[in-house]
Amino acid sequence: MRFGGDYNPEQWPPATLHEDVDLMKRAGVNLVTVGVFSWAWCEPRPDEFELDWLDRAMDALHGAGIGVDLATATASPPPWLAARHPETLPVDATGARLWPGSRQAYCPSSPVFRDRARRLVTRLAERYAEHPALEMWHVGNEYACHVTQCWCDVSAAAFRSWLRERYGSVEALNEAWGTSFWSQRYDDFDEVVPPRLTPSFVNPTQRLDFRRFSSDEHLACYLGERDVLRRLTPDVPITTNFMANRDVVDYWAWSDHVDVVSNDHYVQGEHPRKEADLAFTADVSRGLARGGPWLLMEHSTSAVNWQPRNLAKRPGEMLRHSLAHLARGADGALFFQWRQSRAGAEKYHSALVPHAGTETRVFREVERLGALLADLEPVVGSTVATDVALLLDWQAGWVCEGDATPTCDVAYRDCAQLLHAELMRRGITTDVVRPGEDLGGYRLALVPTLTMVTDAQAAALTDFVDGGGHVLVTYFSGIVDEHDRVRLGGYPGAFRDLLGVVSEELCPLPAGGAVTVTDTSGAVVGSGHVWTEDLQVTGAEPVLVLADGPVPGRPALTRHEVGSGTSWYLTTRPDDRTVVRVLDEVLAAAGVVPPVPVPDGVESVVRRSADGRDFHFLINHTDGEVEVPVSGTDLVSGRDTGPTVLPAGGVAVVSRTVP
Ligand code: GAL
Repeated sequence: MRFGGDYNPEQWPPATLHEDVDLMKRAGVNLVTVGVFSWAWCEPRPDEFELDWLDRAMDALHGAGIGVDLATATASPPPWLAARHPETLPVDATGARLWPGSRQAYCPSSPVFRDRARRLVTRLAERYAEHPALEMWHVGNEYACHVTQCWCDVSAAAFRSWLRERYGSVEALNEAWGTSFWSQRYDDFDEVVPPRLTPSFVNPTQRLDFRRFSSDEHLACYLGERDVLRRLTPDVPITTNFMANRDVVDYWAWSDHVDVVSNDHYVQGEHPRKEADLAFTADVSRGLARGGPWLLMEHSTSAVNWQPRNLAKRPGEMLRHSLAHLARGADGALFFQWRQSRAGAEKYHSALVPHAGTETRVFREVERLGALLADLEPVVGSTVATDVALLLDWQAGWVCEGDATPTCDVAYRDCAQLLHAELMRRGITTDVVRPGEDLGGYRLALVPTLTMVTDAQAAALTDFVDGGGHVLVTYFSGIVDEHDRVRLGGYPGAFRDLLGVVSEELCPLPAGGAVTVTDTSGAVVGSGHVWTEDLQVTGAEPVLVLADGPVPGRPALTRHEVGSGTSWYLTTRPDDRTVVRVLDEVLAAAGVVPPVPVPDGVESVVRRSADGRDFHFLINHTDGEVEVPVSGTDLVSGRDTGPTVLPAGGVAVVSRTVP
């Protein structure tokens, strides 16, 4: 069970190293990510490497039995790169070049940047290949976090090559992009530019392809470094830290290229459902690991420094957040960063060792967490089994949130997170799955606002339902093909037959608008928001109805028996009462029940080991004591329980052998 964080000894006088290592031992730290932003220290001048400080850190950490997740240090190029090669700096959509002085100031398509990065990585890999502290490589850092896309001329040329490769002929590009509209027909690939600032809406497929291209360019940077490491240290696992809650790259395309899926997650202090938000991201991380264990690479002990108001965590919150990630498949909890910085842009960001030192609440909680994680060692390698899959797709998200859509009020993950949170409230865990993947083994698949689907992805859902599965599709799904071209014949395009419905018009609501949702007898269930549509059933039956608004009498929820399964369609963004009703209907029909009933505010997830041992994680996010009907040995308290009683804010990991 991994415990530790980013360790940046270059920020401190050399003598601090020994104090740090002693404190790490005291806290139970066993893995640190060293030198993520240390390029300027490793290579202060081109081709002049100074690694003595890193040698000392690696040796000291190894001496204390602490493993190193060694960074390739390429996430922030040193000032000399920008000074000598200003063309490596990124350019925004207006053509303005960004300056150095923060971090990640590079164009991902820059051959100079890529070459310089590989040279540094080669030097690091040669130097530390045999070092006993080296346990894992940490390539880059949060790729595309700040510079998601670069619009410079180097990127433009690379984009044209990428398009040539993808389409083969300019005619095929014209067809895919729908360039007969607004006189955009290209005669040659050389005429194509990235979607820079334009007088009106840029061509949406050009925009989509540029997102795909940019994701691929960042991936190529990662792969360039990974290949060096693979050649020089074939046995050392390689990771790069993802941001599963962001849409900067297509993480499905990345996840096959890492040996360990690792993720960073920071709680939005003011988020009304921050625990649900955390849980969703953790489930996305497990999805990227294809259900296997993953690593929480970064979170925070307390406040961050980049939100409008950076709320300190309450006592016990850091432990609950750590356990919530573990419950959902993480085999470790690491943090940004070990020692709180004295200077620089992140000096107000919390750390394991705060400015005030070790006689502090935060450090005491760090020590407690370290001890607890050691007790949770038996959990390592166990996995989460669920009946419910939720289809999530980064590319579909880019399309859903594109320009000039029916409404600006659909946020791609909004409906997904709403459904996920309601399942979590009931103690039902959700897997996050890539569209098109085999859904065998699940009872229910959720398909929220999946605006863009390929024929193959739609066919996989139909197969699932034909074979007895249940599927719940929501509004603004199935509308366009992989080129963002509308599927003709009525909405929701790809899913009309599966759902037994057709809409002739999409009728989003005005800002703040609401419609009444009733059952078929007219009893009020709740309200719908954001979206309605002029939907007719062609085989499905209405279950809930939009009683007023633009399309009074049209269905809010339909149900359609197909093959040996059932498909459901939700035509509006449900309020809390309506989402409860929708899932009451769908879960009952699909036969999905939680492992145990839980009170509101109690998180409940079961991990199971290959030898048939269950680890039931229970996290009480409420201010009151609760009792849950789970019995076994609680690895947190070390006591046998049954039922399990959790004090306000308490946690338990109840272990039992499944007969
Ligand atoms: C992450 C990043 C870290 C640190 C942290 C602060 O995005 O990887 O280097 O900046 O945020 O919350």
